[in-house]
Amino acid sequence: MKIAIGNDHAGVALKNLISTYLKKTGHDVQNFGTDSEVSCDYPDIAHPVAMVVQNSEADLGILICGTANGVAMTANKHKGIRAAIAWNSEIAGIVHAHNNANILCIPARFVTGDEGVNIVEKYLSTSFEGGRHENRIKKIPC
Ligand code: RB5
Repeated sequence: MKIAIGNDHAGVALKNLISTYLKKTGHDVQNFGTDSEVSCDYPDIAHPVAMVVQNSEADLGILICGTANGVAMTANKHKGIRAAIAWNSEIAGIVHAHNNANILCIPARFVTGDEGVNIVEKYLSTSFEGGRHENRIKKIPC
């Protein structure tokens, strides 16, 4: 898969762990995040990631900030984006199976490195169930 990844200063270490995992498992990873722990503004990273997913230049986006809320709020302003916060792997499976999230948002300050990688692994190994969930996601845009 083509995966666009982005993070603010709170998510550098987790981004590196997740990118290494993704590359090792054969994915094409494009880094839109900062590689520095100097404070930066999460919308500057979340908008470009949302745009490449929106334009189908990436199959999936992964956004990481301290709580995952700032990046999720920003990405969800983009038409066609369903950015979902997952803080454990069970939720990561559900946001794919039920919400067909196309951006996975992970709270770096509230998960360990292993948990972060497991969240991504679970999302990627789960499929959208369609059916009633398809009807529901069609009702999201306003
Ligand atoms: C940065 O301190 C923090 O505000 C940011 O990473 C994120 O949690 C925002 O939602």
